Amino acid sequence: MDKKPIRRIGVLTSGGDAPGMNAAIRAIVRSATAQDVAVLGIRRGYSGLINGDIIELAARSVDGIITKGGTMLYTARCLEMLTPEGLEKAANTCKYMGIDGLIAIGGDGTFRGAQALSRLGVPAIGIPGTIDNDIVCSDYTIGFDTACNTAVDAIDKLRDTMQSHERCSVVEVMGRRAGHLALHVGVAVGATAILLPEREVDFESTVIEKMRMGRIKGRNHHIIIVAEGYGSAQDVADRIHEQTGIDTRVTILGHIQRGGSPSTQDRVMGTRMGYHAVKILIEGKTNRVVVFDDNMITDYDIEEGLARKKDINQALFEAAQMVAT
Ligand code: F6P
Repeated sequence: MDKKPIRRIGVLTSGGDAPGMNAAIRAIVRSATAQDVAVLGIRRGYSGLINGDIIELAARSVDGIITKGGTMLYTARCLEMLTPEGLEKAANTCKYMGIDGLIAIGGDGTFRGAQALSRLGVPAIGIPGTIDNDIVCSDYTIGFDTACNTAVDAIDKLRDTMQSHERCSVVEVMGRRAGHLALHVGVAVGATAILLPEREVDFESTVIEKMRMGRIKGRNHHIIIVAEGYGSAQDVADRIHEQTGIDTRVTILGHIQRGGSPSTQDRVMGTRMGYHAVKILIEGKTNRVVVFDDNMITDYDIEEGLARKKDINQALFEAAQMVAT
């Protein structure tokens, strides 16, 4: 039996927002409408799908959004989508609104929703959008580069004052359970130590000894990066102060890392992934996640994609250890 042609697609953003989501929405709207496929914007993630919070999007509705952080569609984490009732309501909205295919931008929770809808007969595609870069099947997630740049910019400023006061700055970086953001940021700011959930390190030799040696060699201040998934930045700071006597301050960068105008990379990635999602939806694919793999934009079955494993970049981790003295 021939698959139903795609005449109208829905797009939503779900989970934590990420700079570059707007670029993806723009690419979806422009790629679809250029092929006479209508686009509906579903607001507030899956809650909007359950509650029918939906707007029409034309090519001109997305003018100018490529430069904007956040998501023009708003976002939410929707627990109701995890229930059979919520899922059924979401599938029914698709039916009533004539949504022939759905593109959901977000993290793995978002893809689980897309997968569940696919099983109920709604063709659905996921696009990885999260500053954490923690989607196991993709080397890149939209928002990661901008978040790195934002964190680096803030920590460079912290370094100025740490240097003047000869202090140690312990900075907590987002990433949920993953250390990708912390590792990249730590390398870029020249951190003395980077503490990640993925690597157990000996605190004494990795942090304290390096700081003591640094002092002897004339380094008068330190930046220590703590991934939020590693543990409490305050505990790390207390331990450093106790063991070295160095005046130490804690900064939790928090949600500032999720904001700001997207970098070139996030605008380009958002555009490439949005375009690809529309292409495969129109080709008749469903239950796929768009990924950046082996330097290419491609797509995987959601189940297979999420079953993969992803580690932090070991070569970068080793380089970071070697250059931090
Ligand atoms: O997944 C993105 C992220 O910013 C994580 O790095 C962080 O742990 C979490 O979301 C914070 O979530 P919320 O915005 O709900 O506080």
